Amino acid sequence: MGIRVKEETIHFEYGRIYNVDCVKGMEKLSQSERGVDLIIADPPYIISRESNFHTMKDRKNARTGTHFGEWDQEFDNALWLEKAYGVLKKGGSLIAFNDFKKVSEIISLATQLGFIYKDVLVWEKSNPMPRNRDRRYVPSLEMMIWFVKPGGRWTFNRHSLTYESPVLKFASESGGGFKRIHPTQKPVKLIERLLQIHSNAGDIVLDPFMGSGATAIAAMNTSRQFIGFELDTHYYTLANERIQEHHSALRPVA
Ligand SMILES: C[S@@+](CC[C@H](N)C(=O)[O-])C[C@H]1O[C@@H](n2cnc3c(N)ncnc32)[C@H](O)[C@@H]1O
Repeated sequence: MGIRVKEETIHFEYGRIYNVDCVKGMEKLSQSERGVDLIIADPPYIISRESNFHTMKDRKNARTGTHFGEWDQEFDNALWLEKAYGVLKKGGSLIAFNDFKKVSEIISLATQLGFIYKDVLVWEKSNPMPRNRDRRYVPSLEMMIWFVKPGGRWTFNRHSLTYESPVLKFASESGGGFKRIHPTQKPVKLIERLLQIHSNAGDIVLDPFMGSGATAIAAMNTSRQFIGFELDTHYYTLANERIQEHHSALRPVA
């Protein structure tokens, strides 16, 4: 179903991503009558830096720094959070990935905008990046913060037979048959789990920072509708190719 917006510069459709700034995209999307049910947001963490990985040069896969790209240099979380609030349905959820150091900043900004903070979730990587094991703990954890927009009943489809653990253990897609097209690509299996718990089949899922298109693939695999934005033309193109390939693979052969 297409979404007509008042200004005809962008004609949104579900099942697509758009090569535009998500702040502008969400502003326009919020003018449509239907809000989205769930937002999965993985904004730039602003953590690109030099490191002392040279001490591990001989190791396979060792890196000499953490440079994710130009997009990881400067970023204002207040801008996208405000637009995300506007586009989300009442009772809808926002799951925001971020670095440990930014968790309290994101919670503070989001709750000032009206979001209700629910829980912090942890993605535990079963195959973390190597580090100097005699000096540090292995960097195997990433944070996700769950918020709800007030005014409606939020979706929580318990997956576990007992309590739902906030620690989700999945391998990162770095080799082992996975096609890696983005430096901070999230595992499709992890996103699928989030979609299953926090949305229902047929719901609309928005990803403002699509990167590799992981949320789109997860939505297709779990019968959710998706829409997303990606500012970087290179990643936009790669994500689109990935989505098209996946769509063809899913389509039944006539
Ligand atoms: C952390 S990555 C997302 C990775 C993604 N979750 C995945 O699994 O591949 C953040 C992405 O946001 C994009 N980006 C940065 N600022 C943006 C903006 N204002 N609007 C849309 N995309 C943006 C970057 O180009 C980058 O690809």
